[in-house]
Amino acid sequence: MLFTIVLPTFNEKENVNPLLDRLFDSLRDANYNYEILFVDDSSDDTPDIIRQRMAENSNIQLVHRPKEERTGLATAFIKGFQKANGQYICCMDSDLQHPPEVVPKLLEKATRDNTDIVVATRYAKGGSAEGLGDLKTLYGIYRRAVSIGMKYFTQIIFIPTRKTTDPLGGFFLFKKELLSDTVLEPRGFKILVEILMRTKHGKVSEIPYKFLAREDNESKATFAQGLEFLKHLLYIFRTVPEAGRFFKFCLVGFSGVVVNLGILSLSVEVFNVDKNTGWLAAVIVSILSNYFLNTFFTYGDKKSSSRAESLRRVTYYYIVSVAAMAFNFAVYRLGISFGFDYRIAAAVGIIAATAINFILATKLVWKLPVKA
Ligand code: GDD
Ligand code: MN
Repeated sequence: MLFTIVLPTFNEKENVNPLLDRLFDSLRDANYNYEILFVDDSSDDTPDIIRQRMAENSNIQLVHRPKEERTGLATAFIKGFQKANGQYICCMDSDLQHPPEVVPKLLEKATRDNTDIVVATRYAKGGSAEGLGDLKTLYGIYRRAVSIGMKYFTQIIFIPTRKTTDPLGGFFLFKKELLSDTVLEPRGFKILVEILMRTKHGKVSEIPYKFLAREDNESKATFAQGLEFLKHLLYIFRTVPEAGRFFKFCLVGFSGVVVNLGILSLSVEVFNVDKNTGWLAAVIVSILSNYFLNTFFTYGDKKSSSRAESLRRVTYYYIVSVAAMAFNFAVYRLGISFGFDYRIAAAVGIIAATAINFILATKLVWKLPVKA
């Protein structure tokens, strides 16, 4: 089967029929096999309405989760992914905020361009996020600001989410084989972020759409879900090695400053070492502590395979760190010679050296040996 549309439902009895009508309408000319898979957690008659439609159409499938398995939207999607028979899986809302007419376009785009993920986006030309709220109302402005703020925050830390303009949206399609060697661990609502961060994907493309306002009841998005999303991001940061690697590197670098100042004052104040020797000791020890923290925290996925390799890494790390310090000093002097304030020159030096340090550490120190 080519295609599975996964539809999570939570008390959507008003929406099931119009949604199915519009979906079938847009897929009328489809010359491929597809299925529509509901993962339902409702306590109203949503499942009965779905069952009525199943009687007349064999493309519809339903998983109605028993009370004790109703653990939220994220697990509903996972359930749907497990049951899906299609080569492509499309995720969308069942409340008509995601127009069903866009669904065949997503699939067309994926098969024509051979992309792994196609995102329906609110934020490209031709799309709109008006369903988040009217910009003439304070609530609308607030919701949009939160949404855009979260989006850029996510994209600043997590590079793969920059492949789309709408990583926090819930309307997209992907190749099922992306899931074959990954375990998804989503929390909350943002399943696309999870897929972008944990699967190995190639090209990502987009189709703009208008996210419309919900007609009947309220969105289930709450402040608690916002917090849940931040926890989800933190969890990805901790468990996906590539996620925010540069930020991990900077955190370690910052810890190195603390170690450095600690050793320096300890040697000078307590052990009465002279200030130059104290400085040298502080540098040597803090580079080592950075090395160890980076090994576990920043590059935890690039385990060293032998003692010789570890030795090579420490040695290279010292060389790279000293080179970065020299570079830092060079930028500082250059800044001063161009007439900048010495503090600004120093700050630019630190930033430039940190970036160079990170690039060299990634490319030279923690590069994996090429397998023969
Ligand atoms: N099975 C199941 N279980 N479905 C659920 C649950 C649940 O616990 N909670 C919500 N749903 C279903 C709803 O019935 C709806 O079809 C869909 O999931 C999205 O829920 P909404 O309450 O409509 O979410 P929203 O409109 O706030 O959020 C939408 O926009 C966000 C972007 O701003 C969703 O598309 C999100 O995925 C998206 O991130
Ligand atoms: Mn909605």
